Amino acid sequence: MTHEERQSRRLLVTGGAGFIGSNFTRYWCDRYPEDRVVVLDALTYAGNLSNLEGLADSGNFRFVRGNICDRPLLETLLAEENIDTVAHFAAESHVDRSILGPDAFIQTNVVGTFTLLEAFRNHLANRSEVDRCRFLHVSTDEVYGSLDPDDPPFCETTPYAPNSPYSASKAGSDHLARAYYHTYQVPTVITNCSNNYGPYHFPEKLIPLMCLNILLGKPLPVYGDGQNVRDWLYVIDHCCALDAVIHRGTLGETYNIGGNNEVKNIDLVRTLCRLMDEMAADLPVKPSETLITFVKDRPGHDRRYAIDSTKLQTSLGWEPSVTVEEGLRKTVQWYLNNEAWWKPLLSEEYQSYYAQMYG
Ligand code: NAD
Ligand code: TYD
Repeated sequence: MTHEERQSRRLLVTGGAGFIGSNFTRYWCDRYPEDRVVVLDALTYAGNLSNLEGLADSGNFRFVRGNICDRPLLETLLAEENIDTVAHFAAESHVDRSILGPDAFIQTNVVGTFTLLEAFRNHLANRSEVDRCRFLHVSTDEVYGSLDPDDPPFCETTPYAPNSPYSASKAGSDHLARAYYHTYQVPTVITNCSNNYGPYHFPEKLIPLMCLNILLGKPLPVYGDGQNVRDWLYVIDHCCALDAVIHRGTLGETYNIGGNNEVKNIDLVRTLCRLMDEMAADLPVKPSETLITFVKDRPGHDRRYAIDSTKLQTSLGWEPSVTVEEGLRKTVQWYLNNEAWWKPLLSEEYQSYYAQMYG
């Protein structure tokens, strides 16, 4: 389908001021400037308006600060913007925070997703043309639980076995999205993606935390024995996959998205140290590997995640375009170039979270 043949869309992007949501919003506005894009975000600690800097100038973009649990706000926005596509990213997303305090995870991830599904169902009931409407529910591979070293990667039929309050709340929201298709024909598609990395990643997740700690000469806290495995995907590759699913995904289906890049945490941290030593001009401690410190393990820490994205690759023709080495280089360079973005995030709230987590 060429751009000329494509019918424009009117998107509501929830959580569009967060890490993946803002990358997606930038990607979408750049690729489909004819589309209307409305970002709804509560601006929690993880949401940041500077992630969307520059977009306000485009006539087709609007930012609304608000909560996905606010049903009247959702109904007003869906109606007044005549939304046909919801891209639902808004969530509490950090496993460690879900262990410290699960309440917000149940509220936003379960109750918020339910409220959004209800509002969209109601909105569609008042529309004549619903065929091309979509509700993209963006989820995680963590709903499948933990793999042993020789287990095959997660596929779409792997039974759910979430182990953290975060993954349990995401599993609940996935089930709701699925049920709303089967019961009410709300046009949902679900994606379950592996760990993302790239620009605008809040610095309490592994990769940005390590990059900033290396720059600041602080210890690099590796949980447990560092042998836990994650499957890393560059965030723009995730956005391309979501584009394919919105345009060509089958309603009611689930698509797994992964980078086919399984890496042990300790190896990833060592790679970041090597790249930083090579690319950063002045580091307070060099070689930065000497900063690696093994700390107490995360309770219920999943040992291994790996994703089989054959379905997405064969049915929608998507594949990752960035290797881990390339993606990590781009990411390190981005953090080196964007101190003005990350410095304000190391706020009092961040320091108090850091002290609570790492002592
Ligand atoms: P993030 O924490 O960086 O961003 C979440 C955004 O949602 C923030 O801007 C926050 O302000 C907003 N938000 C939180 N609660 C809200 C509420 N009640 N109402 C409105 N907005 C609210 O998260 P992320 O890493 O960008 O993840 C986005 C989505 O992708 C999540 O659903 C997450 O489960 C999923 N996911 C993330 C990863 C990953 O590696 N980060 C991997 C797979 C799937
Ligand atoms: P994280 O970025 O929190 O993602 P997730 O837990 O959703 O996979 O963590 C990635 C991995 O890195 C995970 O196995 C936990 C580990 N980790 C550390 O070893 N030290 C840290 O300081 C953090 C934040 C994570």
